[in-house]
Amino acid sequence: MLVLGIETSCDECSIAVVEDGKTIRSNIVATQIDLHREFDGVVPEIASRLHTEWISSVFRRSLEEAGIAKEAIDVVAVTSRPGLIGSLLVGLSFAKGLAFALGKPLVTVDHIRAHLYAPHLEHCIDYPYLGLLVSGGHTVIGIVREYDSVEVLGTTIDDACGEAFDKVAKHYKMGYPGGVAIDKLAKQGDDSLFSFPDPSLHKGDHRYDVSYSGLKTAVINQIAQFTSAPPPYRNEDIAASFQKAAVGMLMKRLRYAIEDTDIRRVVAGGGVVANSRLRRELSELEDVEVIVPSMRLCTDNGAMIAGLGYMMFINGITSSLAENASSRVAAFRRGYP
Ligand code: KG4
Ligand code: ZN
Repeated sequence: MLVLGIETSCDECSIAVVEDGKTIRSNIVATQIDLHREFDGVVPEIASRLHTEWISSVFRRSLEEAGIAKEAIDVVAVTSRPGLIGSLLVGLSFAKGLAFALGKPLVTVDHIRAHLYAPHLEHCIDYPYLGLLVSGGHTVIGIVREYDSVEVLGTTIDDACGEAFDKVAKHYKMGYPGGVAIDKLAKQGDDSLFSFPDPSLHKGDHRYDVSYSGLKTAVINQIAQFTSAPPPYRNEDIAASFQKAAVGMLMKRLRYAIEDTDIRRVVAGGGVVANSRLRRELSELEDVEVIVPSMRLCTDNGAMIAGLGYMMFINGITSSLAENASSRVAAFRRGYP
């Protein structure tokens, strides 16, 4: 069965063809990174306009690379939530038009769950496992019992992890996208020059929660308080120390979750899982099977949408052409307390 996966929730315009939820026949990712660089962040209006301009050619290239005609598509899967609303609507409208024209079923997919499906495209993974989802908009630790079941243990009470990378990089003009720039700079830095705090949220319901707003403020506004070294500070050292704290916060919660649940399998997904320090620290977990996607499947892509769309379709889930897009998914965010 051939599923087309369409992803336009943020700044990647991506369309993939995936066979039987496993074999990636094509996965075209047209990134808008260069066009948002001068603003040091994704400009929603520019993102949706570019999706509108690019989506037809990305679709054609995806079919070409997969070696199929559009009539061979069995199911059209598309991200409908969460994301930038204007960008989501471009992909969703395209998907609806295509499904209608071809007379094929439409499946609308949750982008966050799709990030956790991405590693399944490359590995055979048994359930249950602890899912670690770390992206620009979300940070979630949960128990994944089935393809469609994530029991959220912990999440961010304020900013997402990727968001903190992006904002720190923007403030210190380290480069864009922020996560990639910090990862690179950190390799030349001293991660012990600054000792940034880890918020004490370890009680009751918040045992697995993270908070990146305080870390961001410490790094951007209060940096002198966290070192005995005199300024000027090097960006390399700031990047390395921040990255150590950001990854450390995640790893600490993940260790709690492993100890408490005794689930010794961890599956990670999302853009920040491309981070070299996070990948290294995950690989160093003892007596735990750790599965991370390859780099191209960490960041946004249509293949993970097609993969999860396939699982939903074979389990009887389809969507109507009246389906709408939604910028947020309440289940993956938490207010404080
Ligand atoms: O999953 P993703 O592509 O989009 C969302 O769903 O948000 O994640 C994008 C995020 C951005 O915040 C970006 O800075 C971060 O992933 N990122 C990284 C790295 N590569 C991308 N963060 C840390 N280290 C990286 N190497
Ligand atoms: Zn994403």
